[in-house]
Amino acid sequence: MLPTLADIDTERLTGEIDTLATFSDAPAPAVTRVLYTPADTQARAYLIGLFEAANLQVRVDALGNTFARWAGSEPDAAPVGTGSHVDAIPHSGRYDGTVGVMGALEAFRVLRHGGFRPRRSLELLLFTAEEPTRFGIGCLGSRALSGAWTPHQLAALTDSDGISLDDARHTAGFDGALESVLLPNGCYHAFVELHIEQGPILERDGTAIGAVTAIAAPATLRIQFTGSGGHAGAVLMPVRRDALLGGAELALAVEAAAKGTDAVDTVGTTGLFQVHPGAVNSIPSRVTLEIDLRDIDLVRRDCVVTEVRAIAKEISKRRELGLLVEVINADPPAICDAEIVKATKVACDTLGLPCLPMVSRAYHDSLFMARICPTGMIFIPSKDGVSHRPDEWSSPDEIARGVAVLAHTLAHLAGSAEQKGDTDAQ
Ligand code: HGY
Ligand code: MN
Ligand code: MN
Repeated sequence: MLPTLADIDTERLTGEIDTLATFSDAPAPAVTRVLYTPADTQARAYLIGLFEAANLQVRVDALGNTFARWAGSEPDAAPVGTGSHVDAIPHSGRYDGTVGVMGALEAFRVLRHGGFRPRRSLELLLFTAEEPTRFGIGCLGSRALSGAWTPHQLAALTDSDGISLDDARHTAGFDGALESVLLPNGCYHAFVELHIEQGPILERDGTAIGAVTAIAAPATLRIQFTGSGGHAGAVLMPVRRDALLGGAELALAVEAAAKGTDAVDTVGTTGLFQVHPGAVNSIPSRVTLEIDLRDIDLVRRDCVVTEVRAIAKEISKRRELGLLVEVINADPPAICDAEIVKATKVACDTLGLPCLPMVSRAYHDSLFMARICPTGMIFIPSKDGVSHRPDEWSSPDEIARGVAVLAHTLAHLAGSAEQKGDTDAQ
């Protein structure tokens, strides 16, 4: 009754992923799909059409988190969740997040086609804004529904044009109180997310599936230096207070701090570097850096955050620059549920697929789902380990293998309507 690899309708699935990629503000093969833009809302409409065509009961919350449920024989039992995101950072690829959404839909369809009837309902979640692009914070939707962020914190967010989260969501057609987004305790029995690895390990290892054991701890800093600016010709070097040079020193210090720990798991990136006023003949008077610091070890990650803040302070003093430091987020890592890791391994054994336990260096909505229920992730290989680039690629067969493993894992966690007794994910 459970699907074999041959049962996955790979052609339909990859066709749907390719259609989804057309909802984009970048020319193919790149994909740009930013929160609440027309490309985002068109993609959501397309997906809801597919969810409804698959006879799923759909509801959308005040942020746009979308829930598509396949009712089980015991509708009052806590459901098993799966899903991911479909927003895409500028000029990125078509598989990040979408494999987890389209793959979950295909897993539901192939399970149902094979005659499986779930005891616990199965619910596909489409999370709003996993990427930090518009409001500077990642996992906006899963942060909110898990209670990691309060409505007050959410309401304070504005984008780079000064548009508030509330105005942006209302314009995109998402109304309702932010308080209504928070899910009640015990809302899910378990949650499993299928995702591309976004790294080189599975491909290098020749392994089809990754069973994620932990998700790295992300932190984001916004650091602003302000100087005196002025005319590039008239202001002599000894009297300058050049904000950009302070920022440049700090960006290099971020790299040194990340390399300076005793572990390869520490990473640091200055992903945004805004220069004001941005004219060749004007000394930069203000720079804003957004810095991404991660590690699988929380203490080590926090040491790097402290070190970067201290260096920023020293630079500002020495260069007589104004300094503003904002910690946008500093999240703990997530440990995946051992029972779900085991169920993933059993599914791989059943399907004759090699499986590698591994950590996730990227963060995901699962980082926040792990706060409210037992959570696991299933990885498929990324070609050359590439992601967040237009040449991001996972083959149809790799995607199909991930879907088959997801289907088996979900079936195990939900239990079948014919089966009595519980399937523990705890
Ligand atoms: O940045 C990340 O780890 C994720 O891809 N948003
Ligand atoms: Mn991403
Ligand atoms: Mn992702």
